[in-house]
Amino acid sequence: MIVSTAAAITSIAIAKVTSLEALPYSAPIEYSPPVLKGVSFTINGKAHTLEMDTRTTLLDTLREHLNMTGTKKGCDHGQCGACTVLVNGRRINSCLSLALQHEGDTITTIEGLGTPEKLHPMQAAFIEHDGYQCGYCTPGQICSAVAVLEEIKAGIPSHVTTNITGQMQVTNMELRERMSGNICRCGAYSNIAEAIAEVAGQST
Ligand code: FES
Ligand code: FES
Repeated sequence: MIVSTAAAITSIAIAKVTSLEALPYSAPIEYSPPVLKGVSFTINGKAHTLEMDTRTTLLDTLREHLNMTGTKKGCDHGQCGACTVLVNGRRINSCLSLALQHEGDTITTIEGLGTPEKLHPMQAAFIEHDGYQCGYCTPGQICSAVAVLEEIKAGIPSHVTTNITGQMQVTNMELRERMSGNICRCGAYSNIAEAIAEVAGQST
């Protein structure tokens, strides 16, 4: 019985191989070389002109081509905010943006906000309030936080803003809503909110 089962399996396997071999011949796939295009922008005060594969994201340009690894890749799908940078003063997810879209732009990354000797006030506040644990999300959190305070100052409303005509307030709810695109897997949210509030001159 065992012998006949084994024989049956073998004959099925042979039949499969035979049917695969009988498939019509298909020509090898031909790959085209990547399309390159020039782009110029300023990053942290320094002008760069690059010849880029048109498919390259701004995030990969920073990390892989300019060796600026301060900006982090978390999800690479616009879900976590780890890759947040400032473009012409506004925050964006650099993983969702192609480098070629930034011709002539002024880009600021975490490396351009401050230096270890001269920290940006937001960087100093994150340290003072323990606004991080592993630190992976922190560059994106800090870039985002800097932009959030500018958005509030400019009177740009958020989903939780109740009065859109008067002076906008830096409330805990406003900060948490506006920072909701920046995920922290370590759960340092309360300390992050305190750090931002301190820079804004308020307490949470
Ligand atoms: Fe860009 Fe997550 S890496 S949003
Ligand atoms: Fe670890 Fe935010 S500090 S993910």
